[in-house]
Amino acid sequence: MTFTQTIYQLLDSRVSAALAAAGCEGVPAVITPAARPEFGDYQANGVMGAAKARKQNPRELAQQVVDKLDLGGIASKVEIAGPGFINITLDPAFLAQRVAAALGREDLAVPHPAPQRVVVDYSSPNLAKEMHVGHLRSTIIGDALARVLRFLGHEVIAQNHIGDWGTQFGMLTAFLVEVEQGADTEMALSDLEDFYRRAKQRMDEDPAFADTAREYVVKLQGGDPHINMLWRRFLEVSMHHCEAVYETLGVGLTRADLRGESAYNDALPGIVADLQQKGLAVESQGAQVVFLDEFKNKEGEPQAYIVRKQDGGFLYSTTDLAAVRYRVDELKANRVLYVVDQRQGLHFQQLFTLARKAGYADASVSLEHVGFGVMLGEDNKPFKTRSGGTVKLAELLEEAVERAFVLVSEKNPDLAEDVRWEIARAVGVGAVKYADLSKNRASDYVFSWSSMLAFDGNTAPYLQYAYTRSAKVLRDAADSAVADAPVILEERAEQVLALQLARFADALNAVAKDTAPHQLCAYLFELAVVFSRFYENCPVLKSEGAQRASRLQLCRLTADTIKTGLGLLGIATLEVM
Ligand code: ARG
Repeated sequence: MTFTQTIYQLLDSRVSAALAAAGCEGVPAVITPAARPEFGDYQANGVMGAAKARKQNPRELAQQVVDKLDLGGIASKVEIAGPGFINITLDPAFLAQRVAAALGREDLAVPHPAPQRVVVDYSSPNLAKEMHVGHLRSTIIGDALARVLRFLGHEVIAQNHIGDWGTQFGMLTAFLVEVEQGADTEMALSDLEDFYRRAKQRMDEDPAFADTAREYVVKLQGGDPHINMLWRRFLEVSMHHCEAVYETLGVGLTRADLRGESAYNDALPGIVADLQQKGLAVESQGAQVVFLDEFKNKEGEPQAYIVRKQDGGFLYSTTDLAAVRYRVDELKANRVLYVVDQRQGLHFQQLFTLARKAGYADASVSLEHVGFGVMLGEDNKPFKTRSGGTVKLAELLEEAVERAFVLVSEKNPDLAEDVRWEIARAVGVGAVKYADLSKNRASDYVFSWSSMLAFDGNTAPYLQYAYTRSAKVLRDAADSAVADAPVILEERAEQVLALQLARFADALNAVAKDTAPHQLCAYLFELAVVFSRFYENCPVLKSEGAQRASRLQLCRLTADTIKTGLGLLGIATLEVM
């Protein structure tokens, strides 16, 4: 059996229909999970608002709605409580059908919403320097969103909007030429951070070098083939550094997803001309500026959004306008997600407002800034090395794996060393990613080794372990007759587990709608918790016959759901750990 609606959608449509039949057409049903287990599984809270608006007695209205409510085959109990809540307890037979439908299917029977084409702009590091922890969040949040959206049947186009253009590349290519003449270039570029620092130092110390650097910028922008070649070489090295990080992180970004700032260079004069022609851009102190009434500065005047500088140079903002146009016109996006630091919030609000005014994106396209907070050190200050420098992502991940190796070796001293390293890679990298993804992305969070590597609580190791444990039960059962065994839900712990399993699709929809991966983490954590409760209360291997087979089915779907869910977060699971 396949289902076209998730549990939430099913309840929402049935309660909405009952509301309409009771004279409340268009009133939202407001379905939420039950606030307490004794209220059942779900509640519909829409009646109270409707009663108030209609000056009706809420309990009477609730009764009218319940009289019209058809939940045959879905709910075993419907009750009115308090001032007009409708409490719904799902029928165990219905939950069993849901579990059975998901078993053995790679898509876990998650229904697909109407497919969209979604552009996800993420990672997007600046190639002048090495990727640092600031790019961690964009990379892994974006990757998780891309995976969830694809799983739901959407077409995702990743866009790695790298910073590969701008004046600093004049300095860097000029320095590359100097270095070429002397020492080993490979060496000099092996540490980009250091290379940048040294180039900057030359810039500050030697006016002749600074002149060359400026000359190179002009040449680069003018398409000079030699400078262009140097610039490409530099980008190549920098991209290699990024790709090593993607590989460690298990992030699927490839060269095909690259479309950096330089790709829009030729479109920029046209953007400014178009904005002028539409009367949006005006001259102000030699620059081309758009004044947006929607954004006021401290003096209450419209804020200036600069699209061309006094010296004729273009900006980040101009490039982003060209990118909106490309994404809408060429990529035909229905939705564009920008997974970028929260601190760029104003930039994106202005960008979106202007893009709409200029007609680059009409109301059918959703433009969303998926902002995130900063990663803090345990001292609550922005995450830095002990000496105050920026922490490189590659080094951070290495440390994670080493720390995980120590833990894994303590827990499992008997495993072969290479196996322990393999586990450590999954646990260490998984822990860093999960710690980030499990927080509400909008808030800052404290990076703490001890909490992210804990085997208890809402952490990657805890979930990875929950997977290993459920998978082990299945292996130990070694029972091939289980494949089609019916699911029978008698104990409360079985029903609660089945309900949580059946909620997977709703959890994914929430992640996609709110662009909030932490909701998937919260879901998986809850799943692991209810699984443990089930496992403590309901013997699996020691039970018999149909009950044993049914419980094994619950174990199987739990294992598959945790594995799939962690996979959507870009986190690996292990058969042994
Ligand atoms: N390179 C930028 C940075 O590191 C992020 C780019 C985000 N994407 C965009 N379309 N503006 O701050």
